[in-house]
Amino acid sequence: MADILNRNLDYSRPINIADGVYWVGFVDLASGLHCNPYLIVDEGEAALIDGGSRPDFATVMMKIMQTGVEPSKISTLIYHHYDPDLCGSIPNLENIIGRQNLTVLSHRENNIFIRYYAARSRLRCVETMGFKFQFKSGRTLRFFRTPYCHSAGSFITLDEKTGVLFTSDIFGSYDPPERWNLFSDIPDLCHSCDVDSRFNEDFKCDRIDDFCPLVGIFNFHRRIMTSGRALRHAMEIVRKALPDMLAPQHGGILHKPGDIGMVIERLEAVDDVGIDGILGKGQ
Ligand SMILES: [Fe+2]
Ligand SMILES: [Fe+2]
Repeated sequence: MADILNRNLDYSRPINIADGVYWVGFVDLASGLHCNPYLIVDEGEAALIDGGSRPDFATVMMKIMQTGVEPSKISTLIYHHYDPDLCGSIPNLENIIGRQNLTVLSHRENNIFIRYYAARSRLRCVETMGFKFQFKSGRTLRFFRTPYCHSAGSFITLDEKTGVLFTSDIFGSYDPPERWNLFSDIPDLCHSCDVDSRFNEDFKCDRIDDFCPLVGIFNFHRRIMTSGRALRHAMEIVRKALPDMLAPQHGGILHKPGDIGMVIERLEAVDDVGIDGILGKGQ
C-alpha cells in the first residue's frame, strides 16, 4: 500500500492505495479537474472503475499495464454515471481488452446513455444483480444508489475487502493543479473553521497560507450536485456504508476518519447546492 504519511509517491506510476486497489490516473496540469480512475485486481481478474476520458486513455492504459495486469484480464468496467470524463474511453478500452464477454456495469438510468459509448460490450444493470458484484474469488463489491448526485442513476461502490468507497463525483473537488495530492489531508485548523458560511468564489484563507482544501470541495458540490436534498441523502448513504477510505473521481482521497466525518458533516450542511443556489431553498 502507498506510504500515505510521508507522501513519497511517484505519480508517474500506478499507486497502490489498498489491497489490490490501484489509482491509475495521472497528474493533469492542463486541467482544473483531476480525474481518478481506479483498478481493482483480484487473483488475476481486474475491474476498472470510472476508466476516464478519450484523451486520457493512453496514459491510463499505460498505468494499468504498469500494475502487471494485461488488458485482457479486465473483465468488468464499472461506471458510476455517464459523463464523458469517465466514459469517453470505453471504445478504446473495448478495442484493447478485446474480450467477447467484457461487461459494463452501471445503473439502468445510466446504461441508456452508456450504450452510445459501449457498442460491443454486454451492459448489465446493478439493480438486476442485487446491487453487488463478485470476483471469482468471492471478493464483493456493493453498490449503493445516490440519485441525483449528480445523475438520476448515480451510485457508489464499496469494496468490502478494503473498506474503500469509490464515490465518483461525490467528494470531488476543484483544485489548482499544482496543489493537487492523491491523498487529502485536511489541516487541523480547517476542522474548526466556518469556511462554508464565509465561502465565495474569491475566498482566501487567513489561517493556512491561502489554500483551503475545503473550498474546492464546496465549490464542486454546489456546482455539480443537483440540490441540497439530494446531497444530504447521499451523505446518509455514505455514512451507512461505513467506509474506511473515500476514493472520489476528482480531487483527493480522504483517508483519515476525522477528515471523513468532518467533510460529510459539512456537506450535509452546505447551502446553495445546485438548483437551490439558483431558485433558493424550498421553491
Ligand atoms: Fe459527473
Ligand atoms: Fe466527474
